[in-house]
Amino acid sequence: MGKGAALRWLENRLLARHLRGHGIEIGALWRKFPVPHRVTVYYVDRLQNEDLQQHYAEVSQTVVNPDVVADAMQLPFAPASLNFVIASHVLEHLPFPLAALRHWYDVLLPGGVLLLKVPDKRYTFDAKRERTPLEHLIAEQEEQGCDKQAHFEDWVDRVVGHRRGTPEFQQQLKYLLESDYSIHYHVWVDEDVREIAEYTRTEMRLQWRPIVFWRAHSYRKECVLMLQRTRPDERKSEGIYGNLHL
Ligand SMILES: C[S@@+](CC[C@H](N)C(=O)[O-])C[C@H]1O[C@@H](n2cnc3c(N)ncnc32)[C@H](O)[C@@H]1O
Repeated sequence: MGKGAALRWLENRLLARHLRGHGIEIGALWRKFPVPHRVTVYYVDRLQNEDLQQHYAEVSQTVVNPDVVADAMQLPFAPASLNFVIASHVLEHLPFPLAALRHWYDVLLPGGVLLLKVPDKRYTFDAKRERTPLEHLIAEQEEQGCDKQAHFEDWVDRVVGHRRGTPEFQQQLKYLLESDYSIHYHVWVDEDVREIAEYTRTEMRLQWRPIVFWRAHSYRKECVLMLQRTRPDERKSEGIYGNLHL
């Protein structure tokens, strides 16, 4: 095991200590988050196993068979019914990430945690794309509308690398739109993810607090954030990210 893999293993062990009871992992695909034996986890994905295999033909590992086929923004779980929600490399795939965060908050029990891992564009195929400003998310949220075509065009341009206006560009765009390919709708660096989480606390009034915030860097190419839904008797804590770095 290389140094990076060993550190990631250790980090996952530290994160897993916050998981108890029963919860879900959304979009595990080929990489289940390693949960402790004592917890129960249900796997949720937007597609059934065969469709996932077809959609992600490039994935050579075994694809996780979802226990529940549902959209991440319409989970069939009662409010305040889960001890944890895990979403690793999923938030950026959703057209309305603020609504998703609200929904995930709603299904958590008080004291329950959301574990988020979000790729940092500086270390991924998104490197050439612009960071998505928070204002963009808020506007799409308020207008209840997301310009799907524009997001896909940006993907074909800056990730696939076809020049706009060429036949290759149009062909690829058509294919991806028709197959509803799971692109990264939005693109962030770690600081943006922190800003989004703060927005959910201060403006959306979601009563949760960060208990882990790890920035991206050379071996951890993603931002790791864990938010805990506060219990009614807990004191409100503000601006505590400064103590949570690793
Ligand atoms: C890039 S994969 C993440 C795989 C793995 N969790 C990881 O960390 O590498 C994204 C996963 O999210 C799922 N997904 C994307 N959009 C979704 C949605 N709207 N609802 C539920 N799952 C979704 C995909 O089907 C896929 O399984």
